Amino acid sequence: MLKTVNPTHTDAWKSLQTHFEDTKNTTIKSLFASDPMRAEKFSLTFNEQIFVDYSKNRITSDTLDKLQALAKECGLSAAIKSMFSGEKINRTEDRAVLHVALRNLSNTPIYVDGKNVMDDVNAVLAKMESFSKRVISGEWKGYTGKAITDVVNIGIGGSDLGPFMVTEALRPYKNHLNMHFVSNIDGTQMVEVLKTVNPETTLFLVASKTFTTQETMTNAQSARDWLLKSANDDTAVAKHFVALSTNTKEVAKFGIDTANMFEFWDWVGGRYSLWSAIGLSIVLSIGFDNFKQLLAGAHDIDKHFNQAPAEQNIPLILALINVWYNNFYGAETETILPYDQYMHRFAAYFQQGNMESNGKYIDRNGDRVTYSTGPVIWGEPGTNGQHAFYQLIHQGTKLIPCDFIAPAISHNPLGDHHEKLLSNFFAQTQALAFGKTKEEVEQEFISAGKKLEDITEIVPFKVFEGNRPTNSILIKEMTPYTLGALIAIYEHKIFTQGVIWNIFSFDQWGVELGKQLAGRILPELENNEDITSHDSSTNGLINLYKSWR
Ligand code: F6P
Repeated sequence: MLKTVNPTHTDAWKSLQTHFEDTKNTTIKSLFASDPMRAEKFSLTFNEQIFVDYSKNRITSDTLDKLQALAKECGLSAAIKSMFSGEKINRTEDRAVLHVALRNLSNTPIYVDGKNVMDDVNAVLAKMESFSKRVISGEWKGYTGKAITDVVNIGIGGSDLGPFMVTEALRPYKNHLNMHFVSNIDGTQMVEVLKTVNPETTLFLVASKTFTTQETMTNAQSARDWLLKSANDDTAVAKHFVALSTNTKEVAKFGIDTANMFEFWDWVGGRYSLWSAIGLSIVLSIGFDNFKQLLAGAHDIDKHFNQAPAEQNIPLILALINVWYNNFYGAETETILPYDQYMHRFAAYFQQGNMESNGKYIDRNGDRVTYSTGPVIWGEPGTNGQHAFYQLIHQGTKLIPCDFIAPAISHNPLGDHHEKLLSNFFAQTQALAFGKTKEEVEQEFISAGKKLEDITEIVPFKVFEGNRPTNSILIKEMTPYTLGALIAIYEHKIFTQGVIWNIFSFDQWGVELGKQLAGRILPELENNEDITSHDSSTNGLINLYKSWR
Protein backbone atom coordinates (compact mmCIF):
# COMPACT_ATOMS: atom_id res chain seq x y z
CA MET A 1 0.00 0.00 0.00
CA LEU A 2 1.09 3.56 -0.60
CA LYS A 3 2.35 5.50 2.39
CA THR A 4 0.26 8.49 3.40
CA VAL A 5 2.80 11.19 4.05
CA ASN A 6 1.81 14.83 4.03
CA PRO A 7 4.69 16.19 1.92
CA THR A 8 4.62 19.55 3.70
CA HIS A 9 5.37 17.81 7.01
CA THR A 10 8.61 16.24 5.79
CA ASP A 11 12.09 17.50 6.68
CA ALA A 12 12.84 17.75 2.98
CA TRP A 13 9.92 20.12 2.38
CA LYS A 14 11.08 22.42 5.17
CA SER A 15 14.58 22.35 3.81
CA LEU A 16 13.26 23.09 0.31
CA GLN A 17 11.34 26.06 1.65
CA THR A 18 14.48 27.58 3.15
CA HIS A 19 16.38 26.72 -0.01
CA PHE A 20 13.71 28.47 -2.07
CA GLU A 21 14.00 31.65 0.00
CA ASP A 22 17.79 31.52 -0.39
CA THR A 23 17.82 30.92 -4.15
CA LYS A 24 14.65 32.46 -5.57
CA ASN A 25 16.52 35.44 -6.98
CA THR A 26 19.23 33.37 -8.65
CA THR A 27 18.83 33.47 -12.41
CA ILE A 28 19.31 30.73 -14.96
CA LYS A 29 21.77 33.07 -16.65
CA SER A 30 23.95 33.33 -13.56
CA LEU A 31 23.80 29.56 -13.04
CA PHE A 32 25.19 29.05 -16.55
CA ALA A 33 27.79 31.77 -16.07
CA SER A 34 29.11 30.17 -12.91
CA ASP A 35 29.37 26.64 -14.30
CA PRO A 36 30.63 25.91 -17.81
CA MET A 37 29.74 22.23 -17.31
CA ARG A 38 26.10 22.95 -16.45
CA ALA A 39 24.56 21.49 -19.63
CA GLU A 40 26.52 18.26 -19.22
CA LYS A 41 25.64 18.01 -15.56
CA PHE A 42 21.94 18.60 -16.05
CA SER A 43 21.15 16.35 -18.98
CA LEU A 44 20.50 12.65 -19.51
CA THR A 45 20.34 10.32 -22.50
CA PHE A 46 18.07 7.33 -22.83
CA ASN A 47 19.29 4.55 -25.11
CA GLU A 48 21.13 7.04 -27.33
CA GLN A 49 17.77 8.05 -28.74
CA ILE A 50 16.20 10.49 -26.30
CA PHE A 51 18.24 13.38 -24.90
CA VAL A 52 16.75 15.34 -22.01
CA ASP A 53 18.40 18.67 -21.23
CA TYR A 54 17.03 20.12 -18.01
CA SER A 55 19.82 22.62 -17.46
CA LYS A 56 17.68 25.67 -18.34
CA ASN A 57 15.84 25.46 -15.03
CA ARG A 58 16.06 27.42 -11.80
CA ILE A 59 17.77 24.54 -10.06
CA THR A 60 21.15 23.63 -8.62
CA SER A 61 22.48 20.23 -7.60
CA ASP A 62 21.43 21.17 -4.11
CA THR A 63 17.83 21.75 -5.26
CA LEU A 64 17.74 18.34 -6.89
CA ASP A 65 19.24 16.62 -3.84
CA LYS A 66 16.58 18.14 -1.63
CA LEU A 67 13.82 17.18 -4.06
CA GLN A 68 15.20 13.63 -4.17
CA ALA A 69 15.08 13.60 -0.38
CA LEU A 70 11.43 14.65 -0.58
CA ALA A 71 10.61 11.75 -2.94
CA LYS A 72 12.38 9.42 -0.54
CA GLU A 73 10.51 10.65 2.52
CA CYS A 74 7.23 10.31 0.62
CA GLY A 75 8.00 6.65 -0.01
CA LEU A 76 8.51 6.74 -3.77
CA SER A 77 10.67 3.59 -4.04
CA ALA A 78 8.12 1.50 -2.18
CA ALA A 79 5.31 3.04 -4.26
CA ILE A 80 7.06 2.05 -7.49
CA LYS A 81 7.44 -1.50 -6.21
CA SER A 82 3.77 -1.56 -5.18
CA MET A 83 2.60 -0.48 -8.62
CA PHE A 84 4.82 -2.87 -10.59
CA SER A 85 3.94 -5.81 -8.36
CA GLY A 86 0.20 -5.45 -8.86
CA GLU A 87 -0.77 -4.16 -5.41
CA LYS A 88 -4.15 -2.44 -5.36
CA ILE A 89 -2.75 1.07 -5.13
CA ASN A 90 -5.90 2.55 -6.69
CA ARG A 91 -7.60 2.24 -3.32
CA THR A 92 -10.77 4.23 -3.97
CA GLU A 93 -11.64 1.79 -6.77
CA ASP A 94 -9.91 -1.18 -5.10
CA ARG A 95 -7.84 -1.86 -8.21
CA ALA A 96 -4.26 -2.60 -9.17
CA VAL A 97 -2.56 -0.21 -11.61
CA LEU A 98 -0.83 -2.28 -14.22
CA HIS A 99 -0.49 -0.55 -17.55
CA VAL A 100 3.15 -1.64 -17.16
CA ALA A 101 2.00 -5.27 -17.49
CA LEU A 102 0.53 -4.51 -20.93
CA ARG A 103 4.01 -3.75 -22.26
CA ASN A 104 5.93 -6.21 -20.11
CA LEU A 105 7.74 -7.79 -23.04
CA SER A 106 10.12 -9.47 -20.56
CA ASN A 107 7.06 -11.53 -19.62
CA THR A 108 8.03 -11.77 -15.96
CA PRO A 109 4.96 -12.88 -14.00
CA ILE A 110 2.81 -10.16 -12.41
CA TYR A 111 0.09 -11.29 -10.03
CA VAL A 112 -3.28 -9.75 -9.26
CA ASP A 113 -5.41 -11.68 -6.74
CA GLY A 114 -3.02 -14.62 -7.08
CA LYS A 115 -3.32 -14.83 -10.89
CA ASN A 116 -0.48 -14.10 -13.32
CA VAL A 117 -1.99 -11.44 -15.59
CA MET A 118 0.63 -12.00 -18.29
CA ASP A 119 -1.23 -15.02 -19.67
CA ASP A 120 -4.30 -12.90 -20.44
CA VAL A 121 -2.18 -9.99 -21.71
CA ASN A 122 -0.33 -12.25 -24.15
CA ALA A 123 -3.52 -13.95 -25.32
CA VAL A 124 -5.17 -10.62 -26.19
CA LEU A 125 -2.02 -9.40 -27.94
CA ALA A 126 -2.03 -12.59 -30.05
CA LYS A 127 -5.70 -12.03 -30.90
CA MET A 128 -4.99 -8.41 -31.88
CA GLU A 129 -2.13 -9.60 -34.08
CA SER A 130 -4.13 -12.19 -35.99
CA PHE A 131 -7.21 -10.00 -36.35
CA SER A 132 -5.22 -7.01 -37.60
CA LYS A 133 -3.39 -9.17 -40.13
CA ARG A 134 -6.71 -10.36 -41.54
CA VAL A 135 -8.07 -6.84 -41.82
CA ILE A 136 -4.90 -5.29 -43.26
CA SER A 137 -4.42 -8.10 -45.81
CA GLY A 138 -8.04 -7.81 -46.96
CA GLU A 139 -8.91 -11.34 -45.82
CA TRP A 140 -11.54 -9.94 -43.40
CA LYS A 141 -14.56 -9.06 -45.53
CA GLY A 142 -17.52 -6.77 -45.05
CA TYR A 143 -21.13 -7.88 -45.57
CA THR A 144 -20.91 -7.70 -49.39
CA GLY A 145 -17.59 -9.53 -49.52
CA LYS A 146 -15.39 -6.47 -49.94
CA ALA A 147 -12.20 -5.81 -47.99
CA ILE A 148 -12.10 -3.15 -45.27
CA THR A 149 -10.84 0.27 -46.37
CA ASP A 150 -11.83 2.45 -43.39
CA VAL A 151 -11.66 2.00 -39.63
CA VAL A 152 -13.72 4.18 -37.28
CA ASN A 153 -12.70 4.14 -33.62
CA ILE A 154 -15.65 5.16 -31.45
CA GLY A 155 -14.51 6.06 -27.94
CA ILE A 156 -13.90 9.04 -25.70
CA GLY A 157 -11.29 10.19 -23.16
CA GLY A 158 -8.69 7.49 -22.75
CA SER A 159 -10.49 5.34 -25.30
CA ASP A 160 -9.91 8.00 -27.96
CA LEU A 161 -7.10 10.40 -27.09
CA GLY A 162 -4.32 7.81 -26.83
CA PRO A 163 -5.07 5.87 -30.01
CA PHE A 164 -5.71 9.10 -31.93
CA MET A 165 -2.55 10.78 -30.64
CA VAL A 166 -0.39 7.73 -31.48
CA THR A 167 -1.85 7.04 -34.93
CA GLU A 168 -1.25 10.69 -35.79
CA ALA A 169 2.27 10.75 -34.31
CA LEU A 170 3.16 7.60 -36.26
CA ARG A 171 1.54 8.49 -39.56
CA PRO A 172 4.80 7.81 -41.44
CA TYR A 173 4.34 4.12 -40.47
CA LYS A 174 0.74 3.95 -41.71
CA ASN A 175 -0.65 1.41 -44.14
CA HIS A 176 -3.51 1.84 -46.63
CA LEU A 177 -6.36 1.77 -44.08
CA ASN A 178 -8.06 5.12 -43.51
CA MET A 179 -8.42 5.84 -39.81
CA HIS A 180 -11.22 7.92 -38.29
CA PHE A 181 -11.93 8.82 -34.67
CA VAL A 182 -15.34 9.76 -33.33
CA SER A 183 -15.54 10.81 -29.70
CA ASN A 184 -17.92 13.73 -29.21
CA ILE A 185 -21.61 13.12 -28.56
CA ASP A 186 -22.23 16.10 -30.82
CA GLY A 187 -23.77 14.28 -33.81
CA THR A 188 -21.75 16.50 -36.12
CA GLN A 189 -18.61 14.44 -35.67
CA MET A 190 -20.30 11.13 -36.55
CA VAL A 191 -22.27 12.63 -39.43
CA GLU A 192 -19.13 14.14 -40.96
CA VAL A 193 -17.21 10.85 -40.73
CA LEU A 194 -20.09 8.80 -42.13
CA LYS A 195 -20.23 11.13 -45.14
CA THR A 196 -16.74 9.96 -46.10
CA VAL A 197 -17.03 6.19 -45.63
CA ASN A 198 -18.83 3.27 -47.31
CA PRO A 199 -20.84 0.86 -45.11
CA GLU A 200 -19.63 -2.10 -47.15
CA THR A 201 -15.98 -1.45 -46.34
CA THR A 202 -16.01 0.21 -42.92
CA LEU A 203 -15.03 -1.42 -39.65
CA PHE A 204 -16.18 0.17 -36.37
CA LEU A 205 -14.17 -0.34 -33.19
CA VAL A 206 -16.33 0.42 -30.19
CA ALA A 207 -13.72 1.35 -27.60
CA SER A 208 -14.99 1.66 -24.06
CA LYS A 209 -13.59 0.24 -20.86
CA THR A 210 -17.00 0.30 -19.16
CA PHE A 211 -19.15 -0.01 -22.31
CA THR A 212 -21.65 2.28 -20.61
CA THR A 213 -20.21 5.71 -21.50
CA GLN A 214 -23.06 7.79 -22.90
CA GLU A 215 -21.08 9.38 -25.74
CA THR A 216 -19.62 6.11 -26.99
CA MET A 217 -22.79 4.06 -26.70
CA THR A 218 -24.84 6.74 -28.48
CA ASN A 219 -22.30 7.05 -31.28
CA ALA A 220 -22.03 3.26 -31.60
CA GLN A 221 -25.82 2.95 -31.82
CA SER A 222 -25.98 5.59 -34.57
CA ALA A 223 -23.19 3.84 -36.48
CA ARG A 224 -25.02 0.53 -36.15
CA ASP A 225 -28.27 2.08 -37.46
CA TRP A 226 -26.36 3.60 -40.37
CA LEU A 227 -24.82 0.23 -41.26
CA LEU A 228 -28.12 -1.63 -41.01
CA LYS A 229 -29.86 0.93 -43.19
CA SER A 230 -27.59 -0.26 -46.01
CA ALA A 231 -27.11 -3.89 -45.06
CA ASN A 232 -30.67 -4.56 -43.98
CA ASP A 233 -29.46 -7.67 -42.19
CA ASP A 234 -28.44 -7.98 -38.51
CA THR A 235 -25.70 -10.48 -39.33
CA ALA A 236 -23.75 -7.61 -40.94
CA VAL A 237 -23.00 -6.26 -37.45
CA ALA A 238 -20.56 -9.11 -36.73
CA LYS A 239 -18.56 -8.23 -39.85
CA HIS A 240 -18.39 -4.52 -39.15
CA PHE A 241 -18.31 -4.10 -35.35
CA VAL A 242 -15.75 -5.16 -32.81
CA ALA A 243 -15.60 -4.17 -29.14
CA LEU A 244 -12.60 -3.17 -27.03
CA SER A 245 -13.77 -3.43 -23.46
CA THR A 246 -13.64 -4.96 -20.00
CA ASN A 247 -17.40 -5.50 -19.92
CA THR A 248 -18.45 -8.70 -21.72
CA LYS A 249 -22.05 -8.47 -20.53
CA GLU A 250 -22.65 -5.01 -21.98
CA VAL A 251 -20.83 -5.90 -25.21
CA ALA A 252 -23.18 -8.86 -25.75
CA LYS A 253 -26.18 -6.71 -24.83
CA PHE A 254 -25.20 -4.19 -27.51
CA GLY A 255 -25.28 -7.00 -30.09
CA ILE A 256 -21.57 -7.42 -30.78
CA ASP A 257 -20.47 -11.04 -30.99
CA THR A 258 -18.18 -11.56 -27.97
CA ALA A 259 -15.89 -13.50 -30.30
CA ASN A 260 -15.20 -10.05 -31.77
CA MET A 261 -14.39 -8.58 -28.39
CA PHE A 262 -10.85 -7.63 -27.40
CA GLU A 263 -10.68 -7.75 -23.67
CA PHE A 264 -8.80 -5.73 -21.10
CA TRP A 265 -9.09 -5.51 -17.34
CA ASP A 266 -10.10 -3.22 -14.52
CA TRP A 267 -6.43 -2.72 -13.57
CA VAL A 268 -5.93 -0.70 -16.78
CA GLY A 269 -6.84 2.96 -16.23
CA GLY A 270 -8.68 4.57 -19.16
CA ARG A 271 -6.00 7.22 -19.67
CA TYR A 272 -3.28 4.54 -19.53
CA SER A 273 -5.02 2.11 -21.90
CA LEU A 274 -3.49 2.74 -25.31
CA TRP A 275 -1.16 -0.22 -24.62
CA SER A 276 -4.16 -2.56 -24.22
CA ALA A 277 -6.90 -3.71 -26.60
CA ILE A 278 -7.81 -0.01 -26.78
CA GLY A 279 -4.72 0.23 -29.02
CA LEU A 280 -6.35 -1.92 -31.74
CA SER A 281 -6.78 1.14 -33.99
CA ILE A 282 -3.02 1.73 -33.62
CA VAL A 283 -2.31 -1.88 -34.61
CA LEU A 284 -4.62 -1.60 -37.60
CA SER A 285 -2.98 1.65 -38.67
CA ILE A 286 0.73 0.78 -38.34
CA GLY A 287 0.76 -3.03 -38.07
CA PHE A 288 1.43 -5.30 -35.12
CA ASP A 289 5.25 -5.23 -35.35
CA ASN A 290 5.29 -1.45 -35.02
CA PHE A 291 2.81 -1.64 -32.12
CA LYS A 292 5.20 -4.05 -30.43
CA GLN A 293 8.00 -1.52 -30.87
CA LEU A 294 5.78 1.06 -29.16
CA LEU A 295 5.37 -1.38 -26.26
CA ALA A 296 9.13 -2.07 -26.28
CA GLY A 297 9.96 1.63 -25.90
CA ALA A 298 7.59 1.94 -22.97
CA HIS A 299 8.86 -1.29 -21.40
CA ASP A 300 12.44 -0.05 -21.57
CA ILE A 301 11.41 3.14 -19.77
CA ASP A 302 9.59 1.02 -17.17
CA LYS A 303 12.89 -0.77 -16.52
CA HIS A 304 14.76 2.54 -16.45
CA PHE A 305 12.24 4.04 -13.98
CA ASN A 306 12.58 0.95 -11.78
CA GLN A 307 16.33 0.52 -11.94
CA ALA A 308 18.12 3.75 -12.83
CA PRO A 309 19.73 5.54 -9.88
CA ALA A 310 17.68 8.51 -8.73
CA GLU A 311 20.11 11.08 -10.14
CA GLN A 312 19.90 9.45 -13.61
CA ASN A 313 16.20 8.68 -13.57
CA ILE A 314 14.51 10.72 -16.31
CA PRO A 315 10.82 10.51 -15.25
CA LEU A 316 11.80 11.10 -11.63
CA ILE A 317 13.89 14.19 -12.38
CA LEU A 318 11.23 15.70 -14.65
CA ALA A 319 8.64 15.09 -11.94
CA LEU A 320 10.78 16.70 -9.24
CA ILE A 321 11.57 19.79 -11.28
CA ASN A 322 7.87 20.45 -11.74
CA VAL A 323 7.12 19.85 -8.06
CA TRP A 324 9.69 22.60 -7.43
CA TYR A 325 7.84 25.07 -9.67
CA ASN A 326 4.35 23.92 -8.67
CA ASN A 327 4.84 23.98 -4.91
CA PHE A 328 7.57 26.50 -4.27
CA TYR A 329 7.33 28.99 -7.15
CA GLY A 330 3.53 28.70 -7.28
CA ALA A 331 3.42 27.87 -11.01
CA GLU A 332 -0.11 26.89 -11.99
CA THR A 333 0.42 25.49 -15.47
CA GLU A 334 2.89 23.60 -17.64
CA THR A 335 3.11 23.49 -21.40
CA ILE A 336 4.05 20.66 -23.71
CA LEU A 337 5.37 22.02 -27.00
CA PRO A 338 6.23 19.40 -29.62
CA TYR A 339 8.15 20.70 -32.61
CA ASP A 340 6.68 17.91 -34.71
CA GLN A 341 3.41 18.35 -36.58
CA TYR A 342 2.66 14.63 -36.30
CA MET A 343 2.54 15.11 -32.50
CA HIS A 344 -0.25 17.66 -32.67
CA ARG A 345 -2.40 15.74 -30.16
CA PHE A 346 0.41 15.00 -27.69
CA ALA A 347 -0.41 17.90 -25.35
CA ALA A 348 -4.14 17.08 -25.49
CA TYR A 349 -3.34 13.47 -24.62
CA PHE A 350 -1.35 14.44 -21.54
CA GLN A 351 -3.93 17.05 -20.63
CA GLN A 352 -6.15 14.09 -19.74
CA GLY A 353 -3.22 11.95 -18.60
CA ASN A 354 -2.04 14.51 -16.10
CA MET A 355 -5.15 16.49 -15.15
CA GLU A 356 -7.46 13.50 -14.68
CA SER A 357 -4.74 11.78 -12.65
CA ASN A 358 -3.49 14.58 -10.41
CA GLY A 359 -6.33 17.10 -10.38
CA LYS A 360 -7.33 16.13 -6.83
CA TYR A 361 -7.80 18.12 -3.62
CA ILE A 362 -8.37 15.17 -1.28
CA ASP A 363 -5.25 13.38 -0.06
CA ARG A 364 -4.75 9.68 0.59
CA ASN A 365 -6.01 10.13 4.16
CA GLY A 366 -9.26 11.59 2.88
CA ASP A 367 -8.33 15.11 4.03
CA ARG A 368 -8.26 18.32 2.02
CA VAL A 369 -4.73 19.14 0.92
CA THR A 370 -3.17 22.42 2.02
CA TYR A 371 -0.79 22.63 -0.95
CA SER A 372 -1.09 22.75 -4.71
CA THR A 373 -1.45 19.45 -6.64
CA GLY A 374 -1.71 18.79 -10.39
CA PRO A 375 -0.97 21.62 -12.83
CA VAL A 376 -3.00 22.77 -15.81
CA ILE A 377 -1.48 21.14 -18.89
CA TRP A 378 -1.70 22.73 -22.31
CA GLY A 379 0.25 23.20 -25.51
CA GLU A 380 0.33 23.26 -29.27
CA PRO A 381 2.93 22.21 -31.78
CA GLY A 382 5.77 24.62 -32.54
CA THR A 383 6.02 26.88 -34.40
CA ASN A 384 2.26 27.60 -34.35
CA GLY A 385 2.36 28.36 -30.63
CA GLN A 386 5.10 30.93 -31.17
CA HIS A 387 2.68 33.05 -33.17
CA ALA A 388 -0.11 32.61 -30.67
CA PHE A 389 0.68 32.40 -26.95
CA TYR A 390 4.47 32.54 -26.55
CA GLN A 391 4.20 36.32 -25.99
CA LEU A 392 2.77 35.61 -22.55
CA ILE A 393 5.39 32.97 -21.78
CA HIS A 394 8.19 35.44 -22.65
CA GLN A 395 6.83 38.68 -21.22
CA GLY A 396 3.72 37.82 -19.20
CA THR A 397 3.44 37.91 -15.42
CA LYS A 398 3.04 34.16 -14.99
CA LEU A 399 5.74 31.54 -14.60
CA ILE A 400 5.10 28.78 -17.14
CA PRO A 401 7.58 25.91 -17.22
CA CYS A 402 7.73 24.48 -20.74
CA ASP A 403 8.74 21.15 -22.24
CA PHE A 404 10.11 21.51 -25.74
CA ILE A 405 10.14 18.24 -27.72
CA ALA A 406 11.63 17.76 -31.21
CA PRO A 407 12.90 14.96 -33.45
CA ALA A 408 16.39 15.47 -34.90
CA ILE A 409 15.50 13.51 -38.04
CA SER A 410 12.37 14.52 -39.92
CA HIS A 411 10.16 12.02 -41.71
CA ASN A 412 9.60 14.70 -44.34
CA PRO A 413 12.89 16.36 -45.24
CA LEU A 414 11.42 19.09 -47.42
CA GLY A 415 13.96 21.72 -48.43
CA ASP A 416 15.27 23.43 -45.29
CA HIS A 417 11.97 23.21 -43.37
CA HIS A 418 13.40 21.02 -40.65
CA GLU A 419 16.46 23.22 -40.08
CA LYS A 420 14.14 26.21 -39.79
CA LEU A 421 11.84 24.33 -37.41
CA LEU A 422 14.73 23.23 -35.18
CA SER A 423 16.38 26.66 -35.25
CA ASN A 424 13.16 27.94 -33.68
CA PHE A 425 13.20 25.12 -31.11
CA PHE A 426 16.77 25.99 -30.04
CA ALA A 427 16.17 29.75 -30.18
CA GLN A 428 13.04 29.69 -28.04
CA THR A 429 14.59 27.87 -25.08
CA GLN A 430 17.60 30.17 -25.33
CA ALA A 431 15.43 33.30 -25.44
CA LEU A 432 13.29 32.08 -22.55
CA ALA A 433 16.29 31.33 -20.36
CA PHE A 434 18.60 34.24 -21.14
CA GLY A 435 16.29 36.98 -22.39
CA LYS A 436 17.61 40.31 -23.64
CA THR A 437 18.83 43.10 -21.34
CA LYS A 438 18.12 46.83 -21.56
CA GLU A 439 21.74 47.36 -22.62
CA GLU A 440 21.43 44.79 -25.39
CA VAL A 441 18.25 46.43 -26.66
CA GLU A 442 19.89 49.87 -26.65
CA GLN A 443 22.97 48.52 -28.42
CA GLU A 444 20.76 47.04 -31.14
CA PHE A 445 19.13 50.42 -31.75
CA ILE A 446 22.47 52.21 -31.81
CA SER A 447 23.88 49.68 -34.29
CA ALA A 448 20.84 50.37 -36.48
CA GLY A 449 21.80 54.06 -36.48
CA LYS A 450 19.28 55.33 -33.90
CA LYS A 451 20.05 57.90 -31.17
CA LEU A 452 19.69 56.86 -27.53
CA GLU A 453 17.43 59.82 -26.66
CA ASP A 454 15.00 58.83 -29.44
CA ILE A 455 14.52 55.27 -28.24
CA THR A 456 14.35 55.45 -24.44
CA GLU A 457 10.56 55.27 -24.47
CA ILE A 458 10.41 52.06 -26.50
CA VAL A 459 13.27 50.22 -24.77
CA PRO A 460 11.30 48.71 -21.81
CA PHE A 461 8.89 46.99 -24.18
CA LYS A 462 11.72 45.26 -25.99
CA VAL A 463 13.49 43.91 -22.91
CA PHE A 464 13.14 40.19 -22.12
CA GLU A 465 13.77 39.33 -18.46
CA GLY A 466 14.45 35.72 -19.37
CA ASN A 467 14.77 33.25 -16.50
CA ARG A 468 11.83 31.29 -17.95
CA PRO A 469 12.41 27.57 -17.29
CA THR A 470 12.35 24.90 -20.00
CA ASN A 471 13.25 21.28 -20.58
CA SER A 472 14.50 20.35 -24.05
CA ILE A 473 13.73 16.81 -25.14
CA LEU A 474 15.54 15.99 -28.36
CA ILE A 475 14.58 12.69 -29.95
CA LYS A 476 16.78 11.14 -32.59
CA GLU A 477 13.78 10.17 -34.71
CA MET A 478 10.13 9.76 -33.87
CA THR A 479 9.66 6.01 -34.22
CA PRO A 480 7.20 3.64 -32.53
CA TYR A 481 9.98 2.80 -30.06
CA THR A 482 10.89 6.38 -29.13
CA LEU A 483 7.24 7.46 -28.96
CA GLY A 484 6.47 4.55 -26.60
CA ALA A 485 9.41 5.58 -24.44
CA LEU A 486 8.40 9.24 -24.41
CA ILE A 487 4.81 8.47 -23.38
CA ALA A 488 6.03 6.22 -20.57
CA ILE A 489 8.37 8.97 -19.32
CA TYR A 490 5.38 11.30 -18.92
CA GLU A 491 3.24 8.56 -17.34
CA HIS A 492 5.86 7.88 -14.67
CA LYS A 493 6.36 11.59 -14.10
CA ILE A 494 2.64 11.86 -13.28
CA PHE A 495 2.81 8.81 -11.00
CA THR A 496 5.81 10.21 -9.11
CA GLN A 497 4.09 13.53 -8.52
CA GLY A 498 0.91 11.83 -7.33
CA VAL A 499 2.94 9.85 -4.78
CA ILE A 500 4.62 13.02 -3.51
CA TRP A 501 1.35 14.96 -3.35
CA ASN A 502 -0.19 12.10 -1.37
CA ILE A 503 -3.16 11.76 -3.73
CA PHE A 504 -4.72 8.86 -5.60
CA SER A 505 -3.67 9.33 -9.22
CA PHE A 506 -5.65 6.51 -10.74
CA ASP A 507 -9.29 7.31 -9.97
CA GLN A 508 -11.36 10.11 -11.52
CA TRP A 509 -14.36 10.76 -9.28
CA GLY A 510 -14.36 14.38 -10.40
CA VAL A 511 -15.98 13.46 -13.72
CA GLU A 512 -19.03 11.84 -12.12
CA LEU A 513 -21.18 14.75 -10.91
CA GLY A 514 -21.57 16.29 -14.37
CA LYS A 515 -22.57 12.89 -15.80
CA GLN A 516 -25.12 12.41 -13.01
CA LEU A 517 -26.71 15.83 -13.49
CA ALA A 518 -26.83 15.45 -17.29
CA GLY A 519 -28.69 12.17 -16.70
CA ARG A 520 -31.27 14.06 -14.64
CA ILE A 521 -31.61 16.92 -17.12
CA LEU A 522 -31.92 14.80 -20.28
CA PRO A 523 -35.56 13.70 -19.65
CA GLU A 524 -36.46 17.34 -18.93
CA LEU A 525 -35.47 18.21 -22.49
CA GLU A 526 -37.93 15.74 -23.97
CA ASN A 527 -40.95 18.05 -23.71
CA ASN A 528 -41.58 21.78 -23.96
CA GLU A 529 -42.74 22.34 -20.38
CA ASP A 530 -41.13 25.07 -18.31
CA ILE A 531 -38.55 23.74 -15.86
CA THR A 532 -38.46 25.06 -12.29
CA SER A 533 -36.61 22.33 -10.43
CA HIS A 534 -33.10 23.81 -10.57
CA ASP A 535 -31.39 27.06 -9.57
CA SER A 536 -32.57 30.12 -11.48
CA SER A 537 -29.61 30.13 -13.90
CA THR A 538 -29.97 26.48 -14.92
CA ASN A 539 -33.78 26.79 -15.20
CA GLY A 540 -33.37 29.91 -17.34
CA LEU A 541 -30.87 28.29 -19.70
CA ILE A 542 -32.97 25.14 -20.15
CA ASN A 543 -36.15 27.14 -20.75
CA LEU A 544 -34.47 29.49 -23.24
CA TYR A 545 -33.05 26.47 -25.09
CA LYS A 546 -36.54 24.97 -25.27
CA SER A 547 -38.02 28.17 -26.65
CA TRP A 548 -35.23 28.55 -29.23
CA ARG A 549 -34.86 25.01 -30.52
O1 F6P B 1 -14.00 10.93 -18.30
C1 F6P B 1 -14.08 9.83 -17.48
C2 F6P B 1 -13.64 8.56 -18.15
O2 F6P B 1 -13.96 7.52 -17.29
C3 F6P B 1 -12.16 8.52 -18.51
O3 F6P B 1 -11.35 8.21 -17.44
C4 F6P B 1 -12.15 7.49 -19.57
O4 F6P B 1 -10.96 7.50 -20.29
C5 F6P B 1 -13.37 7.90 -20.37
O5 F6P B 1 -14.29 8.35 -19.39
C6 F6P B 1 -13.97 6.85 -21.23
O6 F6P B 1 -14.43 5.75 -20.48
P1 F6P B 1 -14.78 4.38 -21.15
O7 F6P B 1 -13.56 3.83 -21.80
O8 F6P B 1 -15.29 3.50 -20.05
O9 F6P B 1 -15.85 4.62 -22.18
